[in-house]
Amino acid sequence: MPNDQHRARPQSPDQVRGRSFRTALSAETLSSIQTGALQTLYRDRGFLKSPFDVALYLQLIGRLRPASIIEIGTKHGGSALWFADQMTAHGLRARVVSVDLSPPADLSDARIQFVAGDAHDLSAALTHDLLASLPHPWLVSEDSAHTFEACTAVLRFFDNHLVVGDYIVIEDGVLSDMAERHYETYEHGPNRAVERFLSEHVDTYEIDGALCDFFGQNVTWNPNAWLRRAR
Ligand SMILES: C[S@@+](CC[C@H](N)C(=O)[O-])C[C@H]1O[C@@H](n2cnc3c(N)ncnc32)[C@H](O)[C@@H]1O
Repeated sequence: MPNDQHRARPQSPDQVRGRSFRTALSAETLSSIQTGALQTLYRDRGFLKSPFDVALYLQLIGRLRPASIIEIGTKHGGSALWFADQMTAHGLRARVVSVDLSPPADLSDARIQFVAGDAHDLSAALTHDLLASLPHPWLVSEDSAHTFEACTAVLRFFDNHLVVGDYIVIEDGVLSDMAERHYETYEHGPNRAVERFLSEHVDTYEIDGALCDFFGQNVTWNPNAWLRRAR
């Protein structure tokens, strides 16, 4: 039997729908921005978004005016707090649900519901009743394990619940373009999952290329992964 050491490592897909997954940013530039992103605080909490994606989420929130934001991967809660604050700033009734294997115990905000759950099987955490209570349009942000399996499970779960106009963002496919060896452990999970899912859902989802390329070709941590349900 071949053991894991001899298993061929998966490759990142080159493209999907004619769009390359590569970002216009060099590996050196990515690395220095990543260093800053991993140290970013929002209201004293870790807020692990690239500066490009902070701006892109702002464009999307302003345009989509989501009634609910669902985040998979909470960490310190900085992004959940930021999403809630941006909804409030945009005059929206803020409703954020944030799922993590281990939700933060030191953060409480009436606009945010922290839920313990596993990206691989969200049905236990995001129950029928909870989802039915969340008005559309939805903005879903997957930012948890970054593996092919987890990203695919999240995409498939939400495929049963998204309606036309909703968005789902699969974060951190850019790790495939980073030079640091430790990112190899993700095995290009986000890009592979996005490529597979879009290939299986040809008519249902579209890539928001204008958002992906807002700052230059895939100058985002989420290449080709700002997805809109079109049908
Ligand atoms: C990158 S951090 C999230 C960062 C946060 N969204 C932000 O922007 O500040 C990833 C989080 O995903 C969680 N996580 C990892 N695997 C998970 C899984 N299978 N299901 C749910 N959460 C998971 C980790 O506990 C960690 O808190």
